[in-house]
Amino acid sequence: MCGITGCVSTQDCVPLMIESLGRLAYRGYDSAGVAVCDAGGIKLRREHGKLENLMALLARQPLSGRTGIGHTRWATHGRPSESNAHPQTYKKIAIVHNGIIENFMPLRAELEAGGHVFSSETDTEIVAHLISDAYETCADFSKAVRIALARVRGSYAIVAICADCPDELVAARLQSPLLVGLGNNMNFATSDISAVLPYTRRFIFLEDGDFVRMTHDAVSLFDAQGKIITREAKTIEWDIRAAEKQGYPHYMLKEIFEQPAKITDTFRGRILSESAEVNLDAPVNALELENVSRIQIVACGTSYHAGLLGKYMIEKMARLPVDVDVASEYRYRDPILKPDDGFIAISQSGETADTYACVKMARAAGAKILAICNVMDSSIARASDAAFYTRADPEIGVASTKAFTTQVASLALLAIHLGRKRNFLDAERARTCLEALRRVPSEMEVMLEQSDDVRKTAQKLLRANSFLYLGRNVHYPIALEGALKLKEITYIHAEAYPSGEMKHGPIALIDDRLPVIVIAPKNSTYEKTLSNLQEVRARGGRIISIVSEGDEDLSKLSEAYFTIPNCDEFVQPLYSVIYLQLLAYHIADLLGHDVDHPRNLAKSVTVE
Ligand code: AGP
Repeated sequence: MCGITGCVSTQDCVPLMIESLGRLAYRGYDSAGVAVCDAGGIKLRREHGKLENLMALLARQPLSGRTGIGHTRWATHGRPSESNAHPQTYKKIAIVHNGIIENFMPLRAELEAGGHVFSSETDTEIVAHLISDAYETCADFSKAVRIALARVRGSYAIVAICADCPDELVAARLQSPLLVGLGNNMNFATSDISAVLPYTRRFIFLEDGDFVRMTHDAVSLFDAQGKIITREAKTIEWDIRAAEKQGYPHYMLKEIFEQPAKITDTFRGRILSESAEVNLDAPVNALELENVSRIQIVACGTSYHAGLLGKYMIEKMARLPVDVDVASEYRYRDPILKPDDGFIAISQSGETADTYACVKMARAAGAKILAICNVMDSSIARASDAAFYTRADPEIGVASTKAFTTQVASLALLAIHLGRKRNFLDAERARTCLEALRRVPSEMEVMLEQSDDVRKTAQKLLRANSFLYLGRNVHYPIALEGALKLKEITYIHAEAYPSGEMKHGPIALIDDRLPVIVIAPKNSTYEKTLSNLQEVRARGGRIISIVSEGDEDLSKLSEAYFTIPNCDEFVQPLYSVIYLQLLAYHIADLLGHDVDHPRNLAKSVTVE
């Protein structure tokens, strides 16, 4: 995700801001920049690529100033480039932004109609133009920021400076973290404690709707109406590493807990409730996948499991045949792919060699290629006809969690879109599905509160030397994902099977040492799974189950159970996977493993 730093001081703030951006680099970025405001007005330095490029530019073209803003950009709107890097400027205004402006296209059109000329593809630049217009009218910088942001829909952490106000900085927060750091003869606005921890341990955590005006020795908070508000400063005891993980012991756990917010970002601006439709990004709509004869999905690992879920959802909602393959198998089996086929490559990194090779094969076959990626402008995204970005922000833990759930959320949007376009999903059913998706983030928050209970269960499973995961229908891919999570960070063997396959072999494995993790919420196949489990129980198997709220039958058969909300079957996987992620995490942590860097694994497999 983007990193923000802003400073107002009695000394040159550029060296400090560059140092701060260096501490924000762990968040992942593709460009960086700084702007200062001094007697000569706004001065800007930006570079594509790594921070070293910006530092080399500053060595060639030095910059200094007492008030400044800095940014490491993780591209969401507009490919990585110098012109799309932040700070974004317009006339006397410079801003840095973290978040997504949902209504930036209509705002841009309105401004262009009024004669504004834009120099970037970003959603952020719109805000600089809006602030500038408001400032020219009201001649009050902080008021101009309030007026501008009143027109914006979406999420933002924004820090702005104005050429006429060289000693002040204005910031605002809505659904994207922003903090005020209280220093000695200097104050900060930042997205991340770790950025300025060497200069202060006293922070004010802004709330949604807060505005801040600060100078080097004063900080004023106010609400959207300009009314003064107060917030208590907190003292942070963390060290830098802990701050980067926002207090979580591992990135993986932080990323498990980030899932509700990231799924919210995945949906942002893409669900049209009134018409019960999905607004995919323009290039994706233009692919017209609704007109293909079939869809081939290709991916690896966790992304492959997301693809399997995509099959269930697209076939059910759009009645479009879908095949799913592991990329390393697909590329060598001389597959049949025709120009009227659709091809979807799913990849968090956008760099997986096997998946990338398959995209090239699809290109050669003339198929319509959609990438579902988390990294903008990655190789797979660039090689495809269109890319649908999951907006999960960088995933640092090697074991994929938030990338998976945002991939599934993206595929759910795609399935509904195709179902509506192909007239297999009526408005009523689509509305129900979209409403079910809307509820996922808040329901997921409730389940994440069970993390300590999952840890208690994990404690009892540490000595198992193998696990069996069972699921049916949409929960079979989740069983596969749960088994993979366990294997890759606990190094304990695990196997996943469709529940209905028990009688065809795996039931021979059952004894009182084998934990059987069963995903069996109330849905169309529940009764069948319940009888599978009675067979397991009858043989002394240890059942850990994921059940629907209020399910007495299955919980009675279980050594431990975790509940998911009673909900539409197609969103159940987004809930059930949470417990499997937590179970794997806690077992690995209790075993003392390096959860974020499991042995033998890389975050992105860029070789065959
Ligand atoms: C999942 O936890 C693993 N890290 C791995 O299976 C991963 O999903 C796979 O390598 C695919 O990576 P990609 O999504 O970046 O293509």
